[in-house]
Amino acid sequence: MAIRVVLKMGEPLLLQKTAPVARFDTPELHALVRDLRDTMEALNGAGLAAPQIGVALQVVVFGVKKNPRYPDAEEVPDTVLVNPELTALGEEVEEGWEGCLSVPGMRGLVPRYSHLRYRGFDPFGNPIDRSVSGFHARVVQHECDHLMGILYPMRIRDLRNFGFTEVLFPELAPIEE
Ligand code: NI
Repeated sequence: MAIRVVLKMGEPLLLQKTAPVARFDTPELHALVRDLRDTMEALNGAGLAAPQIGVALQVVVFGVKKNPRYPDAEEVPDTVLVNPELTALGEEVEEGWEGCLSVPGMRGLVPRYSHLRYRGFDPFGNPIDRSVSGFHARVVQHECDHLMGILYPMRIRDLRNFGFTEVLFPELAPIEE
């Protein structure tokens, strides 16, 4: 297991587009997934995308149980998603607060589609096809944005809704990254 360094905003690798994974069930892919999971868990993240640890491939991990970063968040199943494709279900968009391990100490209010279908594969090449809503849909959109070189501050509509976690949500400050 390995906890990797998470790249921070300003690093050009975070702005790159990523390549699809060409071969499933390889030692390299399983090692990448292990590192993503170990790093996400160590930092109490809701998700992590391969470019955040410097790997320009279409691999994300996410999952929320009881996460101190998101105390009111709904549970999201532990998922490894490779080569994802997202389709909005309907036009409905909702604003919600997001953070990112690549933008430590900050939160911003970000619009996301409320209802989402996502497809892709697990690391063994088994298909994944889910239709989800709410926080689950938000997490997937956030993580898959990383694969296109998009960080959540780039989606904030009004930068007055962007700030330091310790100021916006003082009750979260003691457990912030
Ligand atoms: Ni992020």
